[in-house]
Amino acid sequence: MDDNDLPIGVFDSGLGGLTVVRSIMEQLPDESILYLGDTARVPYGTKSPATVRRYALQSAQTLLKRGIKVLIVACNTASAHGLEAVQGETAVPVLGVVEPGARAAAEATRSGRIGVIGTRGTIASGEYRRALQSIAPKADVYAVHCPLFVPLAEEGWSNTDVAEGVARVYLAPLLDKGIDTLLLGCTHYPLLQDTLSQVAGDSVTIVDSAHATAATLAEVLDAMHLRRENQSAPEYRYLVTDAPELFREGGEAFLGHPLDSVEWIDLQ
Ligand code: DGL
Repeated sequence: MDDNDLPIGVFDSGLGGLTVVRSIMEQLPDESILYLGDTARVPYGTKSPATVRRYALQSAQTLLKRGIKVLIVACNTASAHGLEAVQGETAVPVLGVVEPGARAAAEATRSGRIGVIGTRGTIASGEYRRALQSIAPKADVYAVHCPLFVPLAEEGWSNTDVAEGVARVYLAPLLDKGIDTLLLGCTHYPLLQDTLSQVAGDSVTIVDSAHATAATLAEVLDAMHLRRENQSAPEYRYLVTDAPELFREGGEAFLGHPLDSVEWIDLQ
């Protein structure tokens, strides 16, 4: 097979990375995608950096063996803890979500006061802060972890009073600092976008790492002449390490439309 025809490999801890897949489908509708959700070991956001790195390397190797032309580390926690390790062991270009998200937030801010939200692991890693400060050294970055947003999104409770109440508590310290940009540093948070906008108010621009990553992917494919030119319809395949039926049922909310085939695989 011509390299250009190979799929984009995308991996995440579970369902959440489908928000990145959705952005790729919107911005690069001709590209095939091979997705791996490590549903047997989700969540990554509460695990140690070494464990997340080990899991990320296993997922990367599994996708590489199947043949991909570019690899996207869609999970923010895995990008924060494991991107360099994955890049070090991978022959194809590897993109994480942190750098594209940070770049988009740095472009969006007017006041330089940027709020970042993510899992415990992502925020503790300091990777978003580091990326933002290298792109926009004068920016003031305020970061908080918001772990309850992940189960709220998975329960389909993103647009409820419960989610709004939780968002008020989490965002209060950021809003007190007068942020004008809120960077969503977790795969699940795009589902809460309406609730977050409502709580943050009109003066805060919401930037989503998933959207920014798909835009960066388009630039990389162009720069490397790797766009798929085949006229046939692209293929979308989903691999999971546990409970394919649950993934199919839950995935629709993240992807925006029903999923085709979901296959169980063992990473061992
Ligand atoms: N995919 C994870 C992330 O973006 C959220 C879910 C998890 O904790 O595994 O950080």
